Amino acid sequence: MEKINTINTFDTLAALSAGFTEFMQQLLTQKAVVNINLSGGSTPKALFDHWAKHEKDSIPWKRLRFFWGDERCVPPSDEMSNFGMTKRHLFDKVPVPAQNIFRILGENDPEQEAVRYGQLLAKELPMADGVPQFDLIILGLGDDAHTASIFPQCIHLWDSPLYCVVAAHPESGMKRVSITGKIINNASQVAFLVTGQGKAEKVRDLLINHDQYIDQYPSARVAPKSGKLYWFMDKAAAGLL
Ligand code: 6PG
Repeated sequence: MEKINTINTFDTLAALSAGFTEFMQQLLTQKAVVNINLSGGSTPKALFDHWAKHEKDSIPWKRLRFFWGDERCVPPSDEMSNFGMTKRHLFDKVPVPAQNIFRILGENDPEQEAVRYGQLLAKELPMADGVPQFDLIILGLGDDAHTASIFPQCIHLWDSPLYCVVAAHPESGMKRVSITGKIINNASQVAFLVTGQGKAEKVRDLLINHDQYIDQYPSARVAPKSGKLYWFMDKAAAGLL
């Protein structure tokens, strides 16, 4: 199916968080259980704060199962940990059952953890076209147009036949476990959450000059087979459209 970009632009981060919540609630009216894949980054952090403050009683937490698209290879107590961030900003504040949380074990050997998490996805998710399928994957957009932890310098990992791989951050060298394009493009729905002026050029590249960047930007390869790709942006990120 052809990829359709549905673009939602909001005046404030609070409005974006509310808009995304409405989108997710809509999904929850269609499915008894929603398997959702989270990203790290500042925009999800603001979303989690919004949920903890305003949506604690309105989101049916028991019907959401949480997974991650990427994790830094550090223990959860490290401030770089994506799970740790989610715990502090969300799970410590709302009643998500522990059995609904499927974190990437950043403290373990990265290669072994990538194998384990790939197997976990195959066990815990329904399959579609022979590949585990998320109901919803949230993605961030890096300043360098990376997404999940597939960086431009290792864009070949996007096309890995594996569900999960080990990538290294191009500057720090820190290892990360990341899902691949195989999982991302098999999701029922994918949503980019992007805020800040620093992202405006990349957003323009991706949405206006897309074909020029397919070999350079991992984020340009996001094209769910379902055709459903949503953008939730603030005015600053969408400023050059
Ligand atoms: C990570 C991410 C990453 C992130 C982007 C955007 O763990 O680093 O999952 O892909 O989403 O770098 O981050 P911001 O929302 O902070 O701009």
